[in-house]
Amino acid sequence: MSAVTSKNKKITKAVIPAAGLGTRMLPISRAVPKEMLPIVDKPAISYLVEECAASGIKDILIITGRSKTMMEDYFDYSLEYEAKLKESGREDEIPELRRIADLCNIHYIRQLETKGLGHAITFAHTFVGDDPFVVLYGDDIIFSEKPVVKQIIEAYEKYNLPTVGVKEVPVELVMKYDSLKVHQLEEKIYKVETMIEKPRIDQIYSHFSILGRVLLTSEIFDILYDLPPGAGGEIQLTDAMKIMAETIGMIAVDFEGTRYDLGSKIGFLKVNTEQATKNPELGSEFREYLKEFVKTL
Ligand code: UTP
Repeated sequence: MSAVTSKNKKITKAVIPAAGLGTRMLPISRAVPKEMLPIVDKPAISYLVEECAASGIKDILIITGRSKTMMEDYFDYSLEYEAKLKESGREDEIPELRRIADLCNIHYIRQLETKGLGHAITFAHTFVGDDPFVVLYGDDIIFSEKPVVKQIIEAYEKYNLPTVGVKEVPVELVMKYDSLKVHQLEEKIYKVETMIEKPRIDQIYSHFSILGRVLLTSEIFDILYDLPPGAGGEIQLTDAMKIMAETIGMIAVDFEGTRYDLGSKIGFLKVNTEQATKNPELGSEFREYLKEFVKTL
């Protein structure tokens, strides 16, 4: 394996895979991709794009399935809505609509078959070229003081190695996600020795799992192209990252932030309830409602 070719480049590109079938969110996912499900009044993917913009990302590639037009419409100017708002004296709402559209340059490509997250990432090769890039899993929403993408970029800038965002999770989740073998370098920062996707209980290295944010270098593509299908018959990004960790090296950041799995129904309900209580417009009314409602449970 050649040395990392993309050292010290500023990170300005991100990839958001959003082409998964989302079978845990059936039946809604037949018509609406989970990345377009709302958190209060904005689709999940809007939060991801905001996280990127707040971390210095300029260009984002969204890997889509059948939902391309829905996403394009969301990130476009909406002149008909602007006209309607003007007519009804609600001009003050227009800048927020424009702000969402202006956050980053957004590019789209379709993953022609849903053969797994690793397969989806191969569709980013032309967009990325030799540049290091961030991947935000489309169904992992994280709220934090400092954007998690920024936390990961800062670790990359220090160590010049591919970097993954991790958290310690309960054993039942480790078995669904992945388990990392790590040794500590400094507070919240670890070197990854190896990892395993969906381990059995006797295969668990640690409770650290990768949660939705990774920074990869372009060496990942050659690894992915050679990779046989892994768990579930899919091309698993974790399998490629394991090879990367063992050959090039990899850093794990135990990030600060609260993460929600929007790919599960319970995650969807939790994030909406919690964010609604914090919403500047609706929060106080919703909190009052919730207090009364819990009394009836
Ligand atoms: P998941 O493994 O959670 O997605 O992928 P899934 O397969 O859609 O979900 P379930 O298990 O059937 O409910 C994590 C991220 O990778 C994307 C998904 O859209 C999600 O954002 N993904 C997954 C792709 O873009 N393509 C794929 O082939 C698989």
